Amino acid sequence: MDKIAIRGGIPLHGDIKISGAKNAALPLMATCLLTDKPLHLVNVPKLSDIASMSELLSQLGVVVELETSPEHQTMHLCAKDLSSTTAAYDVVRKMRASVLVLGPLVARAGEAHVSLPGGCAIGTRPIDLHLKGLEALGAEITLKEGYVHAYASKGLRGATFTFPMVSVTGTENLMMAATLAKGQTRLINVAREPEVTDLAHCLNAMGAKISGMGTDSLVIEGVNQLNGTTHQVIADRIEVGTYAMAAALTGGKVRLKGARLDLVPTAASLLLQAGVSLEDEGDALLVKAPLTGLQGVDVMTEPFPGFATDLQAQWMALMSVAEGASMITETIFENRFMHVPELCRMGANITVHGSSALVRGVKGLKGAPVMATDLRASVSLVLAGLVAEGETIVSRVYHLDRGYERVEEKLRACGADIRRVR
Ligand code: UD1
Repeated sequence: MDKIAIRGGIPLHGDIKISGAKNAALPLMATCLLTDKPLHLVNVPKLSDIASMSELLSQLGVVVELETSPEHQTMHLCAKDLSSTTAAYDVVRKMRASVLVLGPLVARAGEAHVSLPGGCAIGTRPIDLHLKGLEALGAEITLKEGYVHAYASKGLRGATFTFPMVSVTGTENLMMAATLAKGQTRLINVAREPEVTDLAHCLNAMGAKISGMGTDSLVIEGVNQLNGTTHQVIADRIEVGTYAMAAALTGGKVRLKGARLDLVPTAASLLLQAGVSLEDEGDALLVKAPLTGLQGVDVMTEPFPGFATDLQAQWMALMSVAEGASMITETIFENRFMHVPELCRMGANITVHGSSALVRGVKGLKGAPVMATDLRASVSLVLAGLVAEGETIVSRVYHLDRGYERVEEKLRACGADIRRVR
């Protein structure tokens, strides 16, 4: 099994090109199920989660073709003939986002059979809101032997559904389903993440009638059919935040090409408070570490535009070596501090109290063998390794490969001593 070996202490200097967002690409890929026309997605990242979604769509009868150049990966998807409406456990267990095929399948084919998902072990992560929302749109849902069975033989019908809590993939699933429902659907208290907006733009380009993007309510006028389109996947804001923190942590200066400040509004303002400089260069963001040391800043994770839970572990690595203390509160997932014991093994001083972690900054971290437990935890250990004295070996890097494209290559190009070992 691959491991990542890092010798820390080198300030990062150079350019990093931000990849297309995994969390945008996955729902965009699922939209192909809504039409018999081809969908072309530009700037799809090369990641194992994308490969898992391709495999799942292929099993449903979608023709998936990849066109790869050194700069871009373009994906051509065509769901002309669906051969199956079952998303089997073998694929779904690898990636929770597989549940995104549920809404499109039931809307287009009138039925879907989707295994209950697996994915990152960061909490119980139910899908009850996806199911309640589909029921509101007229689907009949049963759970049997670990599968969700959804039927809408006469098609879905528009309805009003209020999310009791904000769910990103829940919003995406219902928005996709509602595009082909009869009449108007109003989704209230929806996720406002940029990936949701990107999906809505792609669906509208396919002929859907969605309004309210970026607000907490979406109105969707159902249409009879959707067409194909060509759509460019937005930049990965979690990569933006992660590499900005890597630059800040190592005392470096890194240009993030393709990054936009509006994708990371809260992370950017917190980085500024910590003393990091961020210069908007239009098509890039120049990140400079503070000259006199990082300051501890408190953080609470929230739905967008708040601070992303997917950046919480990286922020903790950053705060581990800041001056003073930082309180980090996780409000989205109940079990997302699994990186704490690993960071502590590297010399960090962190105490967890329920859903908050108190990080008392230390002078420096020490390299150690550590274990990745989930996608974002794994990259926080890489960040810690970049600043630690001596060698850090991160094992179970398959978590990292789910969501970070060519991470060693990107960091090495900025001077990091990082390599993949077997
Ligand atoms: C998405 C992202 C993930 C990110 C998360 C929160 C993708 C593919 N994944 O995950 O990287 O960490 O948003 O920003 O986009 N919940 C329920 N019932 C449901 C659905 C969710 O109780 O039916 C709860 C979850 O357990 C969690 C909270 O709602 O506590 C938010 O989860 P949600 O936004 O749905 O996360 P995902 O869409 O799975």
